[in-house]
Amino acid sequence: QPLEAADDEVSLQGFDHYMLKEIYEQPEALRNAMRGRLDEENATAVFGGLNLTPQQLRSVERIILTGCGTSWHSALVGEYLIEELARIPVSVEYASELRYRNPPIENNTLVFGITQSGETADTLAALRETKRKGHRTLAICNVVGSSIAQAADGGVYLHAGPEIGVASTKAYTSQCCILTMLALYFGRLRHLSYEGGQRIIQELYGIPGAVQEALNCNERVKEVANKYQDATNVLYLGRQYNFPTALEGALKLKEISYIHAEGYPAAEMKHGPIALVDTKTPSVFIVPQGSTYDKVMANMEEVKARGGPIIAVATKEDPMVDAVADDVIRIPDVPSILQPIVSVVPLQLLSYHFALLRGCDVDKPRNLAKSVTVE
Ligand code: AGP
Repeated sequence: QPLEAADDEVSLQGFDHYMLKEIYEQPEALRNAMRGRLDEENATAVFGGLNLTPQQLRSVERIILTGCGTSWHSALVGEYLIEELARIPVSVEYASELRYRNPPIENNTLVFGITQSGETADTLAALRETKRKGHRTLAICNVVGSSIAQAADGGVYLHAGPEIGVASTKAYTSQCCILTMLALYFGRLRHLSYEGGQRIIQELYGIPGAVQEALNCNERVKEVANKYQDATNVLYLGRQYNFPTALEGALKLKEISYIHAEGYPAAEMKHGPIALVDTKTPSVFIVPQGSTYDKVMANMEEVKARGGPIIAVATKEDPMVDAVADDVIRIPDVPSILQPIVSVVPLQLLSYHFALLRGCDVDKPRNLAKSVTVE
C-alpha cells in the first residue's frame, strides 16, 4: 500500500513520525488485541474466527508458524510460548522458504500465517500451498479483509489500527500478545491448569501498563543513541524469550538507520560474532530478571573483557548490571513469557533515535515498501 494514500487517512496527532506515534500507541493496541478475548471464568482465551471446533483444535499435533521479517520474529516468540504453555511441537518457517521447500507435513498440523498487512506475497503463497495440500490454515493479521485474511480458513485480527511506518512496531507487540493468548487457549485445551490459566490472564492484564512504563525510557534512549551515533556495527544479544527480541532490535536498526546490526542468542556469540567485538562495536544485551539472567550476565562479562561497549536493557533496580554495562536502559519487570512485548520497546526507540540523528527518513526508509507484494 503506498504510504501517500494512507497519509491522508491517518494523522500524526502531534508526533513527528508515524513510527513514533505507533510506538506510543502500543499500550492501546495491546488492550484492543485482548478486548473480549480473555475468559476469566474458564481461565482461557476465546477467539471468534478460528472456524474450528474445540475437538479439531484439541487434535492438533503440530503447529507451523510462518511469516516474513518482523512477523517471522513474532513467530519465534510464538514457538517458545506454545511449546511451553501447550506442549505442542512448533516449527517456525520463513514463508519464502516454506513455499518452495515442500517439507513433509504430518496430518493434524495447523498452519498460521502471521502478517501485519495481510498482503505479503511469500506468506500468502506459503499459506495457499499448505492449504492446497489439505492442511488447516489460519491467519494472524492486522488488515481486515486482506488477501491473507481471505485465503486462510479462519484467523485472529490484531485490531492494532493502521500501521503506516514501514518499520513494524505496534503490529509486532500485538502479534506477540495474540500468540500468548493462543498459547493459553491451546494450553487450556490440554494440561494447563485452571490456576495456571488464571495467572496468565492476570499477567496479560498488566502488560499495557508495563509497556506504558517502558515508554518512559525514551529520554534515556535518546542519550544512548547520541553517545553511540557513529557506530557502524551493533550486536544485539538475548536468550530464550529475548532471543527474538535481539533479532527484532537488529532488524529495526538496520532498516531505518542503515547501521549494520546482527542479533544472536547471547551464547552463540562465542561461536563467531565475538570476533567483531572491539571498542567501537556496541553490544546491546537484553538482560531482564528471569531464568537466563545469570547466563546472559556471564556473556556480558565476556564482551566486557574484550573491550566492547555494552548497552543493557535491564529490569529496574539492578546493581549487578550497573556494575558491568556502560549504559543501562530500564524496563519494568514482567514474567518471562511476556518479556518480548516489553523488552522490544526500548529497542524500537533506539533505532528511531539513531535514524533521526543520522538524518534518515524514518517512516519511508530507502529500498523498502510497507507491504512486499512481490517475491
Ligand atoms: C518490519 O519492520 C519490516 N518492514 C518487514 O520485515 C515486515 O515485517 C515484513 O515485510 C512482513 O510484513 P507483514 O507483516 O505485513 O507480512
